[in-house]
Amino acid sequence: MERNKVVALIFFFFILILLAPITKTITPTSTDNERFRSTSSIQGYTELARERSKTVTSFYNQSAIDVSAEKASVRLTPATLLYAGKSPDGHHILSSAKYLHKELPVRIAHRIKGFRSLPFIIGCNPTILQVHELYIRAYHVLSDFPAIKDQEMEARYSKLVQQLLDDHKDVVTLLAEGFRECRRHIQDETLVRNFLDTTLTSRLGIRMLATHHLALHEENPDFVGIICRRLSPKKIIEKWVDFARRLCEHQYGNSPRVRINGHVAARFPFIPLPLDYILPELLKNAMRATMESHLDTPYNVPDVGVTIANNDVDFVIRISDRGGGIPHRILDKVTDYHYSTAEESNQDPRMNNLFNTMTNSGPQSGPMHGFGFGLPTSRAYAEYLGGSLSIQSMQGIGTDVYLRLRHIDGKGESFRV
Ligand SMILES: Nc1ncnc2c1ncn2[C@@H]1O[C@H](COP(=O)(O)OP(=O)(O)O)[C@@H](O)[C@H]1O
Ligand SMILES: [Mg+2]
Repeated sequence: MERNKVVALIFFFFILILLAPITKTITPTSTDNERFRSTSSIQGYTELARERSKTVTSFYNQSAIDVSAEKASVRLTPATLLYAGKSPDGHHILSSAKYLHKELPVRIAHRIKGFRSLPFIIGCNPTILQVHELYIRAYHVLSDFPAIKDQEMEARYSKLVQQLLDDHKDVVTLLAEGFRECRRHIQDETLVRNFLDTTLTSRLGIRMLATHHLALHEENPDFVGIICRRLSPKKIIEKWVDFARRLCEHQYGNSPRVRINGHVAARFPFIPLPLDYILPELLKNAMRATMESHLDTPYNVPDVGVTIANNDVDFVIRISDRGGGIPHRILDKVTDYHYSTAEESNQDPRMNNLFNTMTNSGPQSGPMHGFGFGLPTSRAYAEYLGGSLSIQSMQGIGTDVYLRLRHIDGKGESFRV
């Protein structure tokens, strides 16, 4: 009996010794520290995970966008926009807002689908992600907007549309930067071209529709929304010649004169907006080539010639310079996104002298060249508008660029916005 008691006691102590480390850990003083440490790292981890999942969800888990992306976009001809009619009670503005309310989320969802189909390493670029996010945000604010029933709602909607136009104004520059940053990861050049062609032309379409709607509020006898009833190609060319010459003078100390000839008196209905993108790009290129091929005689440079040809089907604007032409070896590349000879010309010592004297001498409204986006974007826009951009180089003499655009008067077949 006694022996049994002793064995039981030894066993009891043995158990106590075994349990000692456990009991120790549940004493309050030591656990506080440990628990604090472990919860903080768990907390940190969950915060990180939550943060990450929030970002990923904003790109990934978007069933509403998936549904919209499956819908077809409804594209309008300029003639429809032009003849949609103007009602004194502003009914046309209300129906235009209703159309946009339905249409914009669909178009934006299509673009988001484009961002999602980019190769992983490109889609992950922070600058490209930033644009992707801008589109997702635009999708949500536009599709969350309630049905537009009256003028007060329409006014609020227009304000939102204006705000989004402002928020997205730098998208082309951001995309140019983003894709440049991941150039070295890009194996398939056509992939970039297709993405940028579609994204940029679709953006042009969206901006044309949005600006058209906002402009419907304005009273201007020459305009219906963004469509000018009697656009003078000469006038719009002159506007951009002034702009390009100012820029050119800022950079090179002088600029070529521009002679405009051909159908200078022509007037017809057209949308100035895309011309406002294309013309300055082509004129800057012509002026830059002229100046850089005459660096030894910057105050004596040949003129740039612009010829307008108007006919029943389309109108053509030819810009001719005597800037030495585009060398054979690069002719195929100049319409690639990001292709630019800006770096090379900056290395010319004569350019450096010019740069030193010219920089900081007055306000500048954008770069003369350097992104390598002027020609590819202009060509994409021209094709979107049912036209074309073709380049003829007379190596050793100069370059002719032909911008051909279809009329929108509804007589012939036309593009859709
Ligand atoms: N009129 C022209 N004459 C000679 N070269 C030209 C002309 N227009 C374009 N180029 C060449 O094509 C390249 C690409 O033009 P562009 O797409 O406008 O980009 P960027 O002007 O930013 O270089 C230019 O860098 C230049 O080498
Ligand atoms: Mg250019």
